[in-house]
Amino acid sequence: MSDVFIPTETKPAAPPTPVQPLGKVVAVTSGKGGVGKTFVSANLAAALAKLGHKVLVLDADLGLANLDVVLNLYPKITLHDVFTGKAKLEDAIVRAPGGFSVLLAGSGMVEYSRLSPEVRDDFLRIMAGLVPHYDVVLLDTGAGISDVVLFAVSLASEVIVVATPEPTSLTDAYATIKVLVGQQKRQSVRMVINQTARLGDGRAITVQLQQVLDRFVTTEPGRPVKLVHMCDIPADPTVRQAVMRRQLLMQSAPGCPAALAISQLALKIEEAVIRRNP
Ligand SMILES: Nc1ncnc2c1ncn2[C@@H]1O[C@H](COP(=O)(O)OP(=O)(O)O)[C@@H](O)[C@H]1O
Ligand SMILES: [Mg+2]
Repeated sequence: MSDVFIPTETKPAAPPTPVQPLGKVVAVTSGKGGVGKTFVSANLAAALAKLGHKVLVLDADLGLANLDVVLNLYPKITLHDVFTGKAKLEDAIVRAPGGFSVLLAGSGMVEYSRLSPEVRDDFLRIMAGLVPHYDVVLLDTGAGISDVVLFAVSLASEVIVVATPEPTSLTDAYATIKVLVGQQKRQSVRMVINQTARLGDGRAITVQLQQVLDRFVTTEPGRPVKLVHMCDIPADPTVRQAVMRRQLLMQSAPGCPAALAISQLALKIEEAVIRRNP
């Protein structure tokens, strides 16, 4: 594993988001882009659907949405039409190949990549309309700590931070976690270490990040932040092949090492999120 992880100071913070997180909502986020958020969101949804749960994935990467590309779905009605009042929420929900539902951002969402009071209200309204109908809602967010990303994450009761073992990814993950702890008063953050080379790398990385947090991030006395290592997903050439073919890994190669790791992650999310919010 990498032992050159050096914490940096966080980038300028966005305004606080005093929103009450909704139950059964899991945000999948990261510091750095391209680390596997969309891959994890889509395949975790398929794995949870296979366990019998009613799952919806919302493409919350409003500016650079690409869940549609990964799932090879191009619906006529998207989140954009719901935001602009041209369509009803239920008409924008589509069935994905893995047996779950998706709400795709669609093109034209770039204008929503900044958090205006309207975007905030629309987002809240949409989430409030969705959550009661599903066992779990996954938010595939954008990377980084922009105000839209932080707002989307603030709506979730649980946060998964996806990082790869690369020092750049870990530094950005650290910066993100620091903001989640400082602004949203998160006490636990779930870690998925993607594209690992060796068994155990992800756990060691999580321990290392925890040590840096304990040392440098001040929390309220008696309320330390805990990083929960959820799983390692090995670097697996099958993932790229599935993405190239626009297929879900859980469908095209359910027995490959990365798919098995995602099945394990689904069992943990089932236990931690779905069973605790009946
Ligand atoms: N475990 C893995 N093994 C190999 N390649 C991976 C793995 N996870 C992700 N990738 C590659 O990384 C690319 C970017 O992933 P993506 O989910 O789009 O990132 P993000 O949503 O964080 O920007 C994928 O298209 C895939 O090719
Ligand atoms: Mg993505």
